[in-house]
Amino acid sequence: MTGVKIAPSILSADFARLGEEIRVAEAAGAEWIHLDVMDGQFVPNISFGPMVVAAARRVTQLTLDVHLMIDGPERYLDRFVEAGADRLTVHQEVSPHLQRTVDQIHALGARAGVAINPATPAESLTDILPFVDLVLVMSVNPGFGGQSFIARSTAKVARIREMLASGGFDAVEVQVDGGIDATTAPQVVRAGATVLVAGSAIFGATGSVADNLASLRAAANAARLDGGMGSG
Ligand code: DX5
Ligand code: ZN
Repeated sequence: MTGVKIAPSILSADFARLGEEIRVAEAAGAEWIHLDVMDGQFVPNISFGPMVVAAARRVTQLTLDVHLMIDGPERYLDRFVEAGADRLTVHQEVSPHLQRTVDQIHALGARAGVAINPATPAESLTDILPFVDLVLVMSVNPGFGGQSFIARSTAKVARIREMLASGGFDAVEVQVDGGIDATTAPQVVRAGATVLVAGSAIFGATGSVADNLASLRAAANAARLDGGMGSG
């Protein structure tokens, strides 16, 4: 059984020392680096674009997991892949031609994810599941780090895991993003999450990045041994 992957979100890192923050997360055993792109339209905040993805690419070999919180994401997919993104996740809410967008991501040579906000039902993904590599369950309303985990998200993770299993898509990653820390991680892991995004719990908490990552991993792994998913 493979362990849960941890994807530190650089949104809570010190941008003046971004390279070093990413290197420290890599040395501490992070599997992916999560990059939150925000456009001030789909979400009420602006973060960064492809230049920061390219800067991250220069300092790490880790998978760059780019979460596009932008309207019309299909306009920018090539720019992010050229910048070095390995995985692109787009929101269901802004993509009326979602299956085409997912195809475009694959044609660019990247892995494709689809994200849903807290108010978007799991069932809205029924017809896209056969095409995706990852489902991202937002456990806060996207836009800011440091918000509280919305408890209902756990049931949504379980529902999506069930939908994936019944379609024969068990290899699809289920990622959870928002308010993940050593307290909230166990429940989503037990529900079937395989990738945990954490920003403030890793870069914004009081301990070192290495200690924070280790506590999150210990909590996640304990939940799996606890009788979580069983296999996988
Ligand atoms: C929120 C972003 C998250 C954010 C998570 O809109 O998608 O990736 O960085 O931050 P925490 O872990 O602090 O909730
Ligand atoms: Zn994110």
